[in-house]
Amino acid sequence: MNYDTILSTTNNGITTITVNRPNKLNALNKATIGELHGAFKAAGKDKDTKVIIITGSGEKAFVAGADISEFADFDVKNAEKLAAEGQKMLFDYIENLSTPVIAAVNGFALGGGLELAMACHFRVASTNAKMGLPEVSLGVIPGYGGTQRLPQLVGKGRAMEMVMTAGMIDADKALEYGLVNHVTPQEELIALAEKIAGKIMRNSSVAIKGAIKAINANYKDGIDGYNTEIKQFGKCFGTEDFKEGTTAFLEKRKAEFPGK
Ligand code: COA
Repeated sequence: MNYDTILSTTNNGITTITVNRPNKLNALNKATIGELHGAFKAAGKDKDTKVIIITGSGEKAFVAGADISEFADFDVKNAEKLAAEGQKMLFDYIENLSTPVIAAVNGFALGGGLELAMACHFRVASTNAKMGLPEVSLGVIPGYGGTQRLPQLVGKGRAMEMVMTAGMIDADKALEYGLVNHVTPQEELIALAEKIAGKIMRNSSVAIKGAIKAINANYKDGIDGYNTEIKQFGKCFGTEDFKEGTTAFLEKRKAEFPGK
């Protein structure tokens, strides 16, 4: 599939999606959001893709936010529509994918860029990464889930301070806050994400799918996460992966999961 604003390549079970507007610091415009949706949808359905990594093109930015030039003259109605459609099409979509998604934050992750990274299942960052939600400095608030996911990841007080000050934190602070799981020099970032992906791929993809659902259930209104866990736990016992995993353990060999 050919895209104008992103790249997508699949190798050894990993699909790497790269936001590719380096001259605009990979800012998310409407076309990019549409293409990202298409690429995540395709990767999520692709039997050969076990893990998805998303990163930004160039050495400066992961994604420097939603494209400000596109919404500068929106009215109230258009703005609501932009946030609602974006959340549904991309940010919630990624969070609810059953294929694990790792954000490799290789530079600025601001506004919609940090929101994109936060919608992923977890994040790794390069030492030069800078993260923040600067929206209030533009007279607006985060609209792609930032006010919800940032406090989930770093706690309410830190989220309040980050949003109110519109400030940026560096990679070490993001690590301390639990916003990213690992920090590494930029030239080693993709290799690190791929190494973690490799560990994930050794395990049962159907069990991982159930785990993602159960963990996400904790953050959904009106859904009992413990009950979701019980259901997903039970479901595993009807899978070929469970048979293979337990049999391999008892036979003292490495499991070869069929992914069913
Ligand atoms: N939307 C649209 N264009 C953006 C953008 C965004 N969010 N972020 C960067 N760009 C564009 C700049 O307009 C510039 O384009 P130009 O060369 O055609 O003028 C290009 O990307 C390079 O950015 P520049 O500002 O020159 O780089 P810098 O190194 O001086 O500063 C940042 C980097 C990230 C600090 C600065 O670009 C910035 O503050 N961006 C906006 C961040 C933001 O507020 N995001 C939240 C949006 S809701």
